[in-house]
Amino acid sequence: MEKIDILMDIIRTRRSVFPPLYASDKEVPRSIIEKILEAANWAPSHKKTEPWRFYVFTEKSREDLGKFMADYYLENTPETEFSQVVFNKMIQNPLKAPVIIAIVMHRDLSASLPEWEDIAATACAVQNMALACTAEGLGSFWSTPRPALNADSFLKLSENERCLGLFYVGYVEKEVASVERGDPSEKIIWM
Ligand SMILES: Cc1cc2nc3c(=O)[nH]c(=O)nc-3n(C[C@H](O)[C@H](O)[C@H](O)COP(=O)(O)O)c2cc1C
Repeated sequence: MEKIDILMDIIRTRRSVFPPLYASDKEVPRSIIEKILEAANWAPSHKKTEPWRFYVFTEKSREDLGKFMADYYLENTPETEFSQVVFNKMIQNPLKAPVIIAIVMHRDLSASLPEWEDIAATACAVQNMALACTAEGLGSFWSTPRPALNADSFLKLSENERCLGLFYVGYVEKEVASVERGDPSEKIIWM
């Protein structure tokens, strides 16, 4: 197979795998998690700021993450809007995948870059992780629940850091629904 065909196959077959679809008790070897994180580290960044940081939750630390999210939801949701189903999901979702990686953007303020460039670089790193997961036969999913986006004190982040969500990783147990994309030609203007 040509390199481009291998790459296109990985790009096309990457899917967001939601928490209920993971084999929660099938561990991902540490060497594979490290390879995925190395793929992230090869992302491009303006002025080589490499603004991505990753906080890896496995085993028991996933319980702490779930407890933090549920507590945050409880404390920051008006009583009239509170949903027991959502509260339970906050606790249980992190236990459904063997690996959860908090995605953190770390800004080097001396680089004087606009924030969006560091967000874009971090997103490139996340896509590298997602493609590496697909190539390893793993499912993944970028999740952006409000508690995770406000996890500064839970993760002990500095002023120049911001959590951009959670990246779920795990082996896939159930079938993942296929997803279509619109016609690329409708999004392209040839000049
Ligand atoms: C930055 C970002 C944040 C996302 N946050 C969520 C989320 O909080 N909840 C969710 O259900 N999906 C989330 N998604 C995943 C999308 O639902 C998913 O990418 C889309 O349905 C297309 O499916 P695919 O990834 O399998 O191609 C997010 C995706 C991105 C790129």
